Amino acid sequence: MSPRSDHRVRSDSPPTAAGEAVPGQPGQAGDDRLAFWARQAERLHWDTEWTTVLDWSDAPFARWFVGGRLNVAYNCVDRHVEAGHGDQVAFHWEGEPGDTRTITYADLRREVCKTANALLSLGLTAGDRVAIQLPMIPEAVFAMLACARLGLPHSVVFGGFSPAALQSRIEDAEARLLITSDGQYRRGRAEPMKAGTDEATRNTPCVEHVLVVRRTGIDVPWTDGRDLWWHELVDAQSDQHTPEDFDAEHPLFILYTSGTTGRPKGILHTSGGYLTQAAYTHGTVFGLDPEADVYWCTADIGWITGHSYIVYGPLANRTTSVMYEGTPNTPHEGRHFEIIEKYGVTVYYTAPTLIRTFMKWGEDVPARYDLSSIGVLGSVGEPINPEAWRWYRKHIGGDRAPVVDTWWQTETGTIMIAPLPGGPAAKPGSAQTPLPGISAKVVDDQGRQVGKGESGYLVLDQPWPSMLRGVWGDDDRYRETYWSRFAAQGHYFAGDGARYDEDGDIWLLGRVDDVMNVSGHRISTAEVESALVSHPAVAEAAVVGASDATTGQAIVAFVILRGGTVWSAGDVSGALREHVAQEIGPIAKPRQIMVVPELPKTRSGKIMRRLLRDVAENREVGDVTTLADASVMDLINAGLADGS
Ligand code: WT7
Repeated sequence: MSPRSDHRVRSDSPPTAAGEAVPGQPGQAGDDRLAFWARQAERLHWDTEWTTVLDWSDAPFARWFVGGRLNVAYNCVDRHVEAGHGDQVAFHWEGEPGDTRTITYADLRREVCKTANALLSLGLTAGDRVAIQLPMIPEAVFAMLACARLGLPHSVVFGGFSPAALQSRIEDAEARLLITSDGQYRRGRAEPMKAGTDEATRNTPCVEHVLVVRRTGIDVPWTDGRDLWWHELVDAQSDQHTPEDFDAEHPLFILYTSGTTGRPKGILHTSGGYLTQAAYTHGTVFGLDPEADVYWCTADIGWITGHSYIVYGPLANRTTSVMYEGTPNTPHEGRHFEIIEKYGVTVYYTAPTLIRTFMKWGEDVPARYDLSSIGVLGSVGEPINPEAWRWYRKHIGGDRAPVVDTWWQTETGTIMIAPLPGGPAAKPGSAQTPLPGISAKVVDDQGRQVGKGESGYLVLDQPWPSMLRGVWGDDDRYRETYWSRFAAQGHYFAGDGARYDEDGDIWLLGRVDDVMNVSGHRISTAEVESALVSHPAVAEAAVVGASDATTGQAIVAFVILRGGTVWSAGDVSGALREHVAQEIGPIAKPRQIMVVPELPKTRSGKIMRRLLRDVAENREVGDVTTLADASVMDLINAGLADGS
């Protein structure tokens, strides 16, 4: 494959007034925006045309493409086969141990139909929820699309989440079915998965069946009558299934994400608007050409990036994708580059944390491979630091491929702010401008737009098609979390700080709430704190995100032990880190546990995380005048200096 630069041009011209939030310029008029999205909806096949683009009369509860009906799976699979593209590869799948599968669109249709027929045989009907915890194997995609085809909202739970985390997600959504696997390959080893999901479902009577994919062949515990093997149930089904159409607002999936409290929120996404914006952003941001591109998004399907940019967006655009099961250094540090070379990957979309890991492994690793097929590089998950941006462009992109830094969230569903390839000169570290059709602003704490060179809060001041439709089962929490901060202006508050530069381009500055970003994964301080205090030895805990050279932020926990706990610092640390991994998952393990005699609190009892962050980042401690007891910081510092 040779590099191409000619097709990186947007297929659709941007609307005249695209709503870029440049200070001093008013956003695009509502009619233009709606006409723009109406054109984007033509990317999909609608069984019934919609009558109204947006109904915002019950804000903040949006309805997009009102009256329209479609089948999401038909749009992602069948229509491509019907148009004569059945032989096109949908996925080049690479297993961690080196096994591979090639799945064409015709194969995908057969597998999705069989899976859908299997789910029907279990008595599931439209609206029932299905929980999925699977490794990065093709069955994960088949399962999601089968759910979409039948109108069963799926709730995919990242494979690294603990049984306790899975259980709470199953309970919240009252899932009737869980789809999982016997085990998963991780760093060259087959690790159990079914054993963990059995622990999660021990107390979830809503789960009637557990459908189990055999991936590793390891022994599994089995409950007769409830548990079913995928290869027995699914493989026996007919590969024909006629899709039914659903309302544009039919729930497509729930995906849980951390907020500022201990309880994850079930973010609800629906069908027509979500798929429209997934297809539009994927096509536009990456300049995706279904005839020429080989696209690889390295996310896990357990995160929103996997939903929108491995499954729904790429498949709606009839993309040929690479899907990889394992870790990037198994069996060696060149694994990703080997895969890029093998398949001639043209678009590679990953997270800054992995780029920084590649930097650590050294530039001689990618240099051993032919990466000349790469035409566009994407970044997502956290602000990309300029050094990582430059390294990425130079060593993976041959100093030629544009790097697109994409800002968005689980809640936004799809990309919102990103430079477009072929647009004005890219700025390392800046997501730059809202996409055509999107309006975002940086405002001060009164909700007034700030000027060039100024910082504030990032808000989305106009509804967008792939916006969340709510928090599953909790309308109040939806209003409170996203719409109360700038209620007077009717702005959606994203939780991020941002700044305009002198050109009016947007630079993201990280979260302004108690949410940490570890390796591009959102983890709330409250969630880790409640896991820590559930350990019998811990009286109180405060958690902060401290900057980390590889993971962006790392979790640092300050704990007060219960009286009578006699442990060496090393034992405490090991036991508590393990405990958090058990409660939430290994991604939430604190990097450091600091045992302290007191925590810094204001007179109203709020923990001053800012001061703890100073300690965690080895800085001089800042202003302590609002502390209830100003000597606490001395006490903490003295204790840590003692090594006690
Ligand atoms: C939070 C959303 C978007 C899918 C993966 C994470 C941060 C994400 C960027 C970026 C700066 C970014 C924000 C956002 N974030 N992408 N390109 N530049 N910050 O989804 O778990 O919902 O997290 O990730 O803080 O609010 P998520």
